[in-house]
Amino acid sequence: MVERRRRSVRTALVGEALRAALAGRARLDIVDLGGGTGGFAVPLAVEGHRVTVVDPSPDALASLERRARDEGVSELVRGVQGDAAELPGLAGESSADAVLCHGVLEVVDDPVQALQAMASVLREGGVLSLLVAQRNAVVLARALAGHLAEARIALQDPDGRWGATDPMPRRFDEAGITGQLADAGFKVQTVHGVRTFADLVPSAFVDSEPGAADSLAELERAASRHPAFRALATQLHILATH
Ligand SMILES: C[S@@+](CC[C@H](N)C(=O)[O-])C[C@H]1O[C@@H](n2cnc3c(N)ncnc32)[C@H](O)[C@@H]1O
Repeated sequence: MVERRRRSVRTALVGEALRAALAGRARLDIVDLGGGTGGFAVPLAVEGHRVTVVDPSPDALASLERRARDEGVSELVRGVQGDAAELPGLAGESSADAVLCHGVLEVVDDPVQALQAMASVLREGGVLSLLVAQRNAVVLARALAGHLAEARIALQDPDGRWGATDPMPRRFDEAGITGQLADAGFKVQTVHGVRTFADLVPSAFVDSEPGAADSLAELERAASRHPAFRALATQLHILATH
């Protein structure tokens, strides 16, 4: 239930910002790097866009294929097995109007190279939708859970990790990621915080109180652009053009 709520908060906020950026543009060519099972790719195909998902996981690509078939959009969705580093060769240079990279820059071998690869597959004026884990949120979460030493380590570690057993290879700060985007030739258009409160509010309250889930979604939406609160969000969603 909690995980489903986190996913739905993320999907709603990121989906709204992305659709606003693509509004009025029919049948776009979209590349979803690390698009996994197609949670974003398939709905975009249902809206009429052509989507290529590049992902190293054969299992994820098999689920993507099933999902696309179930939604009747198999001809608009192409799954390609591969890694971020191979993106230009797999998707084609200057082949995309939009590139999605959601929850992937944290895990690739070389995020700078991955951003350059995404820049190279975008056509002029193309849109990048980037969703990355934010360091501040894990510092707060570790402290609130009583793991104070880990919170301090995450605050100071260059990769925003709380220790050697942290499963996340890296997290980002807004200044750092927007700087990396500028270095790769991107112009940042919007920055939103995603899951500012969804991971903090007790699930017993949200799941039992009538209307609480809707109130939480509204609060998330209001906080997503607020500079102080977006700095605490679990993820940052950035729209940038190239
Ligand atoms: C957290 S999931 C995100 C899936 C999807 N983008 C979403 O937002 O629902 C991370 C995805 O990145 C993929 N991935 C892992 N390493 C990658 C790499 N080096 N290049 C591209 N994708 C990678 C995984 O297979 C997985 O599907």
